[in-house]
Amino acid sequence: MFTILTGAQFGDEGKGKIVDLMAKHYDLVVRFQGGDNAGHTVTVGEDVYKLHLIPSGFLLDSRVLIGPGTVLNPEVLADEIDMLEKGGITVTPEKLGIDAKTSIIMPYHIELDGLRESSRKEKIGTTKRGIGFAYIDKIARDEVQMADISSESSLLDRLSELAPQKESAIKDMGGDPGCVMDEAAILHYVELGKRLGPYITDVSYEVNKALDEGKNVLAEGAQGTHLDVIHGTQKFVTSSSTIAGSACSNIGVGPTRVDEVLGIVKAYITRVGEGPLPTELADEAGQHLHDVGQEYGTTTGRPRRCGWFDLPLVKKAIYLNGYTGVALTKVDVLSGLRSVRMCTGYLLDGRILDYPPEITSEVARCTPVYEDLPGWDDDLTNVKEFNDLPEAARKYVIRLEELMGVPVEYVSVGPGREQTFRK
Ligand code: GDP
Ligand code: IMO
Ligand code: MG
Repeated sequence: MFTILTGAQFGDEGKGKIVDLMAKHYDLVVRFQGGDNAGHTVTVGEDVYKLHLIPSGFLLDSRVLIGPGTVLNPEVLADEIDMLEKGGITVTPEKLGIDAKTSIIMPYHIELDGLRESSRKEKIGTTKRGIGFAYIDKIARDEVQMADISSESSLLDRLSELAPQKESAIKDMGGDPGCVMDEAAILHYVELGKRLGPYITDVSYEVNKALDEGKNVLAEGAQGTHLDVIHGTQKFVTSSSTIAGSACSNIGVGPTRVDEVLGIVKAYITRVGEGPLPTELADEAGQHLHDVGQEYGTTTGRPRRCGWFDLPLVKKAIYLNGYTGVALTKVDVLSGLRSVRMCTGYLLDGRILDYPPEITSEVARCTPVYEDLPGWDDDLTNVKEFNDLPEAARKYVIRLEELMGVPVEYVSVGPGREQTFRK
């Protein structure tokens, strides 16, 4: 079985939690795009793991893979491996594989990301992890790949071709080009390359072979649908394709092999960084979502912007991903609100829309049309099955399911594994 899991909104929907929950049924869990801009939180009892690169299926028996469509900062990966090992979790090449063609985030990508962002009049609010510039190099065929960093001579060979254009790009943007050929940094990358060398594999081959053998594979998306570089709210997006089809092209597996596509949908909406968010709240309800939902970016610590559930954006996510099911997360966060609102359409220039306009500046001009449902006060975090939810919460979930037209397969009422049930 091949399942693809993606975020349906602007990221941080709870992908990490749901992947961890599902991983026991999968032989392989594969990250297919993005880099350490992602922050996926997995909570097991008292332990909280914030993973940026290692797929969230790591804690169970599945083998986890980082696919060639990702961009990888080797230092962040090495720190993550150290963090897991300190917690008593051993990372071996049997457990983790990295595709040989994975693009490496170099120090100059991070430098260029910072310089470009500070030179923008209207910011994107990137995570400054060098993501966009690493993807530019992938497309321009100027990347350094995983396989290139394991020997000093191969890395120096690659850099001798790339360095002049990187140095002049940094100089042109008013930065210090010293980071491009910094000797200590190059040696450090070679050390990291040697350390990570044993993990190198061919992800497409592994995934296709596993599927041939009747094994189960889960593709773990990063970011969210509306941060997709092609279909998202440009320019306020990330630099990779975050939707389900991207799992096939980035892993190297045919679309005929896909069995399920699960959308992770937060019961409200959040966004980190700039860009339109039609239901954004600046009132007490917004503060409630922020405080109770602990809405701070996992990677940057920035406060996440919060708003009511936005159906037009989720409808678009359903089209873009072809969801066969949905996991609805953070329903517990809505407890204590007098009424809960869902945006069922937008008002734009006197017209009511039930689907987002294609142009980002028009999304930014939309004002939400709401349907109000009664709230509830009960704490949901100990609820173990759907029928034990208070009536108002059940009605909220059922109404969302009806409006989305896609079955809600999981309901999540807390960060822990046990705080999840089937609907
Ligand atoms: P991801 O990027 O999609 O993996 O999501 P993040 O891990 O960045 O953000 C989701 C946050 O919500 C994490 O801190 C999770 O532990 C937490 N979380 C996930 N599901 C639930 C839930 O149902 N209720 C609550 N209260 N927290 C949750
Ligand atoms: P997970 O996987 C939320 C946002 C950034 C910024 C934009 C571009 O945890 O859901 P980038 O550094 O990618 O060039 O920044 O994308 N962004 C995320 N927002 N969750 C994420 O990942 C994100 N990854 C990138 O805040 O607005
Ligand atoms: Mg996150």
